[in-house]
Amino acid sequence: MEYKKITEADVHFFTALLGSAQVQTDSESLQRYGKDHTEDLLFVPEVVLKPGNTQEVSKVLAYCNTQHIPVTARGAGTGLSGGALPLHGGVSLSMERFNQINYIDKKNFQVSVQPGVINEVLQQAVKEKGLFYPPDPASKGSCFLGGNVSLSSGGPRALKYGTTRDYVLNLEVVLANGDIIITGANTLKYSTGYNLTHLMIGSEGTLGIVTNIILKLIPAPKHNLLLLASFDSPEKACEAVNAIFLAGCNPSACEFVEPEGFRLAANMLQISFDIQPEVKAYLLIEADGNDMDTIMKECETISEVLYGLNVTDILFAETAAQKEYFWKLRRSIGEATKYNNSYKEEDTVVPRGTLPELFKGVKEIGAKYGFRTVCYGHAGDGNLHVNILKDDLSDEFWNHTLDAAIIEIFTLCKNLGGTISGEHGIGLVQQKYMTVVMPQTNLDLMKAIKIAFDPNQILNPGKVYNH
Ligand code: LAC
Ligand code: ZN
Repeated sequence: MEYKKITEADVHFFTALLGSAQVQTDSESLQRYGKDHTEDLLFVPEVVLKPGNTQEVSKVLAYCNTQHIPVTARGAGTGLSGGALPLHGGVSLSMERFNQINYIDKKNFQVSVQPGVINEVLQQAVKEKGLFYPPDPASKGSCFLGGNVSLSSGGPRALKYGTTRDYVLNLEVVLANGDIIITGANTLKYSTGYNLTHLMIGSEGTLGIVTNIILKLIPAPKHNLLLLASFDSPEKACEAVNAIFLAGCNPSACEFVEPEGFRLAANMLQISFDIQPEVKAYLLIEADGNDMDTIMKECETISEVLYGLNVTDILFAETAAQKEYFWKLRRSIGEATKYNNSYKEEDTVVPRGTLPELFKGVKEIGAKYGFRTVCYGHAGDGNLHVNILKDDLSDEFWNHTLDAAIIEIFTLCKNLGGTISGEHGIGLVQQKYMTVVMPQTNLDLMKAIKIAFDPNQILNPGKVYNH
């Protein structure tokens, strides 16, 4: 698909509409908005626009649609699949000025929020009112809710509470032609035709631009306990995950971490973390609820299950500071891997009971092709992040041969009943693997939906499926 290059007349139009401060064409801005957290990829836009309200977004899109200028929406740029990278140049549409929490409706347990609000800012604001917004991606301190919606982001608590998708009630969306729609209703149930809200969630800016979000809230659990279990075998740790659920427990998080993950994170954060030589894997497990006795009993049951599986040690976080220490280490693993090495991050997800087979398969494929992996992630969800390390592998291997290995990993996921992304999305870097997990018929349906929403294909072109 060919797109029109942005001209001085276009910049003039945008400046008249938004004001010169919200239109950037200097090379530093273009470079900054040409990157996200995906590897070291760079695709610079031709202009960065920062609209401040829905009407402005509508006017930008209506104009770009007639001019055939590509528009790539951008949140905080913390994505890991390249979704916010303007592959075809054009407009990087930054939603950073959409940073207001409109209202918290305590009576109805919902909040109206703009897409540029940071996840953790919302979490704190609702917590002050005794309410709870569970989705907690590792980047919660900086990622935007709009980005979370565009990927249905998860995080550790998705295990008990679900991903972003489970909390979005309704959306205001600007379509490619500038039309403004409300996708559904502010209700807990919705059986009113095709669910456009859910179609929009996870569509990575290819179907429309989200300009307002109604999110569901729940009562905040009053207490939690956090434990770190060490294992002398990663396979045993993976097996323990399912055993915890089979014993009737329902933890609020169950994270798997290979020691190298914690080592890299501690190193980057410059904090100490002792790793005993016999330890080959950790599970970081949280239980929450309103009654401390019940939570303690749940942790006792979890401990019994783990001791039955030869856990080498169980450490309870005693204080809020210790809990935060473990979570900070855990949240930093992705960033720490990147800080230390070139890497590719895969977001494999399988039915939980097959996690041991996925882990074993990933390591076997790594041994066959000769690369190291650091595996970690939301084991309770069967969602294993596989960080493939470049180390001193050749560029030829990294850029070409590695593909075959990734396809083997994804084929294994598919054979286990899983897929290639649980929460990071497809964006740019995973789209070539879509055919590993779905037939062309599914991709054709996606394309037909895309064309219905965006016939001129101006919205985030080149993403999700092969165009
Ligand atoms: C995490 C991100 C990378 O779980 O999804 O740390
Ligand atoms: Zn994750």
